[in-house]
Amino acid sequence: MAKIRSTYRCAGCGAESPQWTGRCAGCSAWNTMVEERATPPALALNGALVAPSRPLPIAEVESEGWAPRPVGIGELDRVLGGGLVAGSVTLLGGEPGIGKSTLLLQALAAMAKQGTTCLLACAEESAQQVRMRAARLGALYPKLWLVAETDLSAILAHAGELQPDVLVIDSIQTVFDPELASAPGSVAQVRECAHRLVRAAKDAGRATVLVGHVTKDGALAGPRVLEHVVDTVLSFEGERHHALRLLRAVKHRFGPTSELGLFEMTDDGLAGVADPGALFLSDRQANAPGSAVVPTLEGHRPLTVELQALVAKSPLNMPRRSAQGLDTGRVAMVCAVLDERLRVQLSGADVYALAVGGVRVAEPGADLALALAMVSSVLHRPLPADLVACGEIGLCGELRQVSQTGRRLAEAARLGFRRAIVPASAPPAPAGFEVLRASTLGEALAKAGLALGDKPVGFPRAVSA
Ligand code: TYD
Ligand code: MG
Repeated sequence: MAKIRSTYRCAGCGAESPQWTGRCAGCSAWNTMVEERATPPALALNGALVAPSRPLPIAEVESEGWAPRPVGIGELDRVLGGGLVAGSVTLLGGEPGIGKSTLLLQALAAMAKQGTTCLLACAEESAQQVRMRAARLGALYPKLWLVAETDLSAILAHAGELQPDVLVIDSIQTVFDPELASAPGSVAQVRECAHRLVRAAKDAGRATVLVGHVTKDGALAGPRVLEHVVDTVLSFEGERHHALRLLRAVKHRFGPTSELGLFEMTDDGLAGVADPGALFLSDRQANAPGSAVVPTLEGHRPLTVELQALVAKSPLNMPRRSAQGLDTGRVAMVCAVLDERLRVQLSGADVYALAVGGVRVAEPGADLALALAMVSSVLHRPLPADLVACGEIGLCGELRQVSQTGRRLAEAARLGFRRAIVPASAPPAPAGFEVLRASTLGEALAKAGLALGDKPVGFPRAVSA
C-alpha cells in the first residue's frame, strides 16, 4: 500500500511545513510541530463512496439501537446510565495500576457470559499475561476474544472479520498507525488512531472502549481532541494504597454525569461496593479527639465520611499544613477563620487533616466538620459519637447552607447517627433526627460541646529571643 504523505503543522500558530522541525518557522515555538495526513482518505474519493446524508423531520430519525445495553456490573452500569450503547466510543482514563485493565476484563467477561461477542485488543501486555489474569478473575468465556497487537490496522482488520459487538483497546497510547511516521504515544498517533477507531465504531455500530493513561496531574495524556471525539469519558480514581476505587463519568452523551460508581480492589478483582457507609466508618474510634463525621454528596450518591485532624505544636519556623483527600485551599481557609475570628491560634501549630478511607472530599460543605475536628484536637475533647455536621464556612465565620441537606441526613440516620449540626437556614431533618442549627462557627462549636472561653486557645507562633 502506498505510504500516505504527511505534513507537519504547528499546534500553536497553524503554520505548515513538509518536514518536522524542532522549532516552528512561523511563531518560533519549540516542539509544537504535529504530524498530519496531507489528504484524509475519506475526502480524496470525490465523495463517491461516502453515503449521501439526508435531512429528516426530527421525529422520524431512527433512535432504536441507541438504547444502552447493560454490561452486567452494577456499579459500571450505574455510571454509564444503564450500559454501553452500540456504536458509542468510551474513553476510560486513570493512573497506571489503578485497575483499568481489570475493570474492562471483568466487564467483557460479564458481557461475554450473556452471549455478547467481545474482542479485547491488548497492546500493553502479552496474550499469556492477560489469559492468566482472566483465569484468576473467572473470565474464560468462549465469546471473549483476545488479541495482543499494537498495529491499529491489524486490530481493525481482526474486528472486521470477527464482527464483535464490543471492542476494547488497551491502551490508545500504545497502539499505532503504521502509515504515520511519528512514534506510538505521540500526539499525532493518538489523535489519528482515535479518529480511525471512532469512524470504525460508528460504521460498524460497535461499542468501543479505549483505555487512556493520565499524566501526573490527572489530565488524559495525549491531545485534548481525544475527549472531544469520544462520546463518553470515564475517570477511574483512587488512592493507590487504599482498596477503594471511584468511577465517574466526566463527559457522557447518553446520560447524566453525576453518578458515582464505587469498587473495592480485592484479590479476586474489583468488587462493587453497594453500601459505602460501612466501608468508611468501619474502623472509626468514636470517642477520639480530632474526629468528625460529614455527610457528603458525590453526584447523587450520599457518602458519610470521617474527617480527622491533628493539631500539634510545631518545632518548625514554617509550620506544616498537610491535607490528604481534602482540598488544601479549604484547609488553609478554615485554619485562617479559626485563627482570626475565633482566636484558635494555629500559627505555631502543625495541622494534619485527612478524609478517611481513600476518598476525596473537595466540597465546601465539609468545612464545618473539618473545623470541628480541628478544635476537638486542640481541646483534646472528642465530639459526641452520634453527631454529624455539614455546612460551608464563610470568611466572616458564618455558616452557609449546602445542597440537598435532607438526603445527606437521611443517609447519616440510616447509618445510626442521631444528631446533626447544620446552618440555620437548612431545611427540616428526617423524622427521629435532631438538628442543631447554628448561624456561626462559634455557635456550632458550642452546640458540639466545644465552647471556646474568653481566652485564646491553641499554639501561637513562638517568639524568638
Ligand atoms: P490493572 O488493571 O493492571 O491496572 P491498570 O490497567 O489501570 O494499569 O491493575 C493493577 C493492580 O491491581 C495491580 O497492582 C494488582 C491489582 N490487582 C488486584 O489487587 N487484584 C486482582 O484481582 C487484579 C487482577 C489486580
Ligand atoms: Mg493496564
